[in-house]
Amino acid sequence: MEIAERKLPSLATALPGPKAREIVERDRKSVSPSYTRDYPLVAKTGRGAIVEDVDGNTFLDFAAGIAVVATGHCHPRVVAAIQKQASELIHMSSTDFYYPGMVELAERLAAIAAGKGAKRVYYGNSGTEATEAAMKLARYHTRRDKFIAFHGCFHGRTMGALSLTASKAVQRKRFGPLLAGVFHAPYPDTYRGAYGVRPEHAAADALAFIESELFKRIVDPEDVAAIFIEPIQGEGGYVVAPPEFLQALERLCRKYGILLVVDEVQSGMGRTGKWWASEHAGIEPDMICTAKGIASGLPLGAVIAKAEVMDWQPGSHASTFGANPVAVAASLATLDLLEHSLIENAARMGEFLFARMSGWPERHKIVGDVRGKGLMIGVEFVRDQKTKQRAPELRNRVIDAAFRRGLLVLGAGENSMRLAPPLVIDEEQADFAVRTLDACIGEIEKSL
Ligand SMILES: Cc1ncc(COP(=O)(O)O)c(C=O)c1O
Repeated sequence: MEIAERKLPSLATALPGPKAREIVERDRKSVSPSYTRDYPLVAKTGRGAIVEDVDGNTFLDFAAGIAVVATGHCHPRVVAAIQKQASELIHMSSTDFYYPGMVELAERLAAIAAGKGAKRVYYGNSGTEATEAAMKLARYHTRRDKFIAFHGCFHGRTMGALSLTASKAVQRKRFGPLLAGVFHAPYPDTYRGAYGVRPEHAAADALAFIESELFKRIVDPEDVAAIFIEPIQGEGGYVVAPPEFLQALERLCRKYGILLVVDEVQSGMGRTGKWWASEHAGIEPDMICTAKGIASGLPLGAVIAKAEVMDWQPGSHASTFGANPVAVAASLATLDLLEHSLIENAARMGEFLFARMSGWPERHKIVGDVRGKGLMIGVEFVRDQKTKQRAPELRNRVIDAAFRRGLLVLGAGENSMRLAPPLVIDEEQADFAVRTLDACIGEIEKSL
């Protein structure tokens, strides 16, 4: 069967197959050892939500290249847009010249950002570049130099972004000194609580820490340029900030003239059933950082800022490849597809999945929490539901078992699993994923 006709996985060899094993071995000798690979998938082709490996095994992809291929693998409309643009103009450099696609995309991104006011768009090639640009713009515009971010957050790995990132110590180990003047507050985790206690007060406790601890003892709010927040923490474990927290944070920022930057690199571009996860809270951030799903797999990142905030002068910031014409063409085609039906599908499929999964903590003693929005769903694994002792080893076993049944999922945070499929999945595929995970969890539970 052609891959384009497949909806569900089919395994032809033991995993990894012989060709995959050979590539993994060569990779081990030639590619940077800094990458983490949960399991030995060696991909060859992809269509929609299906990936075929080098041995002819096909998998259902609920990872989407870390939430990147929003429109599925190689959507024909995206491929056609890329091919057309590649045959007309591959590179021009937005720092020196103009081209129409770059302007059109900026107009469209501005139109989908929250709030009626004018917006302007800066382009880079990745999420971390979007973070860097937002940090620099925040300093430039406010003439303040301090930042606040949250425990568990991930904003990228370049030096500025890494100074915000507080996800895993290994990401920072031996890379210091990082940027001075970055302070971290507890994230409002409604399962564990901001401090690992009082989950029902998570939002109030996280906010109180900023106002009563940080601003009173450590940093004057008038020195703070920006607060960076993921409305749903991605790498941190798909932890959802309550809407009232984001609303309160917005009020806090307004009170002290601090810029509110939402990092929607993972949560944006329709994945949660709206363009932006922050839209669910009805807030109007000063800047939105976006990347990943924006161009269905081509490298592109952007900062969408209120026009009055994006006031830096020519020469102050730029990137040779930012807004590369081919990536921009892929992005325009992506926006069309998201707008046409895929955001709606993400909301619908998210509800379908959630309805089937939300009861897991009652049925599975190793599942502590199921949470998320749209097609951004996290499952947290615990040793004990009462003590909430984290169980990374059980999470890893579930992910590996799913792979061996043809389902690709990724870990997130210390002990969570994330479901981040392409936005094109249908009910049959969602059903397969739930049934497979249910079976894997049940099997592992039985073995304990
Ligand atoms: C929320 C968030 N911000 C920033 C980044 C960094 O993006 P990139 O890997 O494209 O630099 C990521 C990547 O996972 C992310 O999830």
